[in-house]
Amino acid sequence: MTNHEYLLHVTDQSGTEHTLEGLEGWRVMEIIRDYGLPIKAECGGACACATCHVYVADDWLDRLEPMSGEEREKLDDAMMVEDNSRLSCQILMDEKRSGLHVTLAPGSEP
Ligand code: FES
Repeated sequence: MTNHEYLLHVTDQSGTEHTLEGLEGWRVMEIIRDYGLPIKAECGGACACATCHVYVADDWLDRLEPMSGEEREKLDDAMMVEDNSRLSCQILMDEKRSGLHVTLAPGSEP
């Protein structure tokens, strides 16, 4: 683990954009939650609740690790799932993900 900080762009449910910084290896959900943005993330990152649902900007979709079967299954419990839906607790921040842009999905607010 290094001390590098990477940028994460987040659009919240009201359309406001935020630029956050997170350390390597952090879950995108943890970065969003620690900045106090409205994300429920009820299960704390265990891929068990789907309340950390985000939409990934189209130009970033190919640059994420593929979804696990577990994540795909859990996403079925989320509302308004789209082709670019992901669970933000399943995306880890690292150099390749610096600059990632996600939008908080409706229903993920606390
Ligand atoms: S925090 Fe529960 S599935 Fe991501």
